[in-house]
Amino acid sequence: MLGLGVVGSGVARILSEKAESYARELGCPLELSRVVVRDTGKDRAYAIEPARLTTDAASVLEDPEIELIVEVMGGEEPAHQYIRDALGAGKYVITANKEVMAKHGASLLTLAQERKLDVLYEASVGGGIPIIAPLKRDLLANEIVALSAVINGTTNYILTAMSRGEGDFDEALAKAQALGYAEADPANDIEGTDAAYKLAILASLAFHGEVRPDQVYCEGIGGLTNRDFRYARELGYAIKLVALARRDAEGGLRLRVHPAMLPEGEPLAKVDGVLNAVEVEGDLLGRTLFEGQGAGAMPTTSAVVADLLDAAHSVVSGGRERLIWRGEAALRIVSMDDLRTRYYLRMTVTDRPGVLAQIARVLGEAEISIATVLQKATDERVAELVIMTHEAQEASMQRALAELRPLPEIAEIGTFLRVEG
Ligand code: NAP
Ligand code: HSE
Repeated sequence: MLGLGVVGSGVARILSEKAESYARELGCPLELSRVVVRDTGKDRAYAIEPARLTTDAASVLEDPEIELIVEVMGGEEPAHQYIRDALGAGKYVITANKEVMAKHGASLLTLAQERKLDVLYEASVGGGIPIIAPLKRDLLANEIVALSAVINGTTNYILTAMSRGEGDFDEALAKAQALGYAEADPANDIEGTDAAYKLAILASLAFHGEVRPDQVYCEGIGGLTNRDFRYARELGYAIKLVALARRDAEGGLRLRVHPAMLPEGEPLAKVDGVLNAVEVEGDLLGRTLFEGQGAGAMPTTSAVVADLLDAAHSVVSGGRERLIWRGEAALRIVSMDDLRTRYYLRMTVTDRPGVLAQIARVLGEAEISIATVLQKATDERVAELVIMTHEAQEASMQRALAELRPLPEIAEIGTFLRVEG
C-alpha cells in the first residue's frame, strides 16, 4: 500500500480486523505486506509493525511477491508514476486518487488492459458510494443523457453548516479537515477542483470518451455568505456545489461545477453534510439516485477494500479479460455561453429613486426577464437587492453583469448563482 493517512489507516485496520472473513471470501489470505509513507516515525491513527513501513517505494513496486498495489497517497506525482510502475511490474492497482484518474485515467486503463490487468478506482468518486462499478456494468445498456451530482463532501459539509447557522465558512472548514474529509490542500475542495476531477471521471465512463478536467467549467464556493443562505431559504431553495454533465440534442456535452440554488423539493437539495449523491439519467432506466457518505476513513475504506477483493479474485482465478476502457468517442464539449437557466443576483445598491429601474433596464436590454425582487434597506442610503430571473442565456447574463458592475449606484454585486431544477 502507498500511503497510511486517513484512508490508508482505515484500509490497514479493516484488512486486519476482517482478515478471516476476507480469506474465506477469497479462498486464500489477503496480506498487507508493506506500506510506503513519507515519515516512518510518525504517530498514526492505526499503528502497524514498524518493519512493514518503508519510505522506499521502488522496493515495494518491484517486489515480485506483491501482486496488488493500493495507492492512497494522493496528489498527481509521484502517485501517477508509481501506478504506471506497478502496472509495468504486472500488478493490479486499486486507487482512491481522483486527480490521477481524472488526468491520466485513459492512458492508465489502456496500459492495464494491454497487460490484462486492471486499475480499480471506485473510491475516487463519492467515497463509499458505489457509482463507478454501476456505470461500468449495470447501466451499460443505457445511453446516459445526464449526470447531476453533489460530489464533494468537504464543501457539502460547509454549505450544510452555513445553511443551518452552525458557524461560518472557516469554522465549518476546520471541522471538515478534523474529520478527515478535506484534501491535503483544501483549496482543491473549496475551488471546485476536486468535484471537477470527479465529474471528469464519471463523464469519461458514462459518455465513453476521455473527458479532461480542464474541459469542466469550474467555480468554487468561496464567495457565499450566510445572507445568501437566508435568502435562499426565504425563496424556497438550498445552495449546493453541483457537478452537472448533460448531452444536448446535437450530441454536445456540457460539463460544469459551480454553486447553485436547487428547489428544496429536489433530491439533490436534501443531500446534506458529508453525504454525496449522483443522479444518473439513462434512456432506458430514467433517473436513478446513488447516495451515501462521500468522504471519511471508513466509507472510503469500504470502496477501496471492495476493489481490492475484486482484484484479488482476478489474481486467484488467474487473469482478467474484461474490457475495462471503452474510450471510443471523441466527445464534443460545448461552452457555457449557450446555457439557459435562471439566475440569482444579490447586490448592494444606493437606496434612491430610479436605481431599480436602471438595473431592470440593463437586464431588459439583455433580454433577461426578472421573476422576483427582494429589497432590504440596510441603512438610510444603502439597500440589499436580491433578484431572481426567469430563464436566460448565460452569455446575456454575463454581458449584463459586466454592464451593471461599473454603475455608480451599485456598490457591490455580492453573489451570482445559477438556479437549477
Ligand atoms: P492523507 O491523510 O494526507 O494521507 C496521505 C498518505 O500518503 C500519508 O500517509 C503520507 O505519508 C503518504 N504520502 C504522501 N505523499 C507521499 C510520498 N510522496 N511518498 C510516500 N508517501 C506519501 O490523505 P487521505 O485523506 O488518506 O487521501 C488519500 C487519497 O484518497 C487521496 O487521493 C484522496 O483524494 C483520496 N480520498 C480521500 C478521501 C477522504 O475522505 N480522506 C475520500 C476519498 C478519496 P506520511 O503519513 O508519512 O506523511
Ligand atoms: N476531499 C474529498 C471530499 C474527499 O471532500 O469529497 C473525498 O473524495
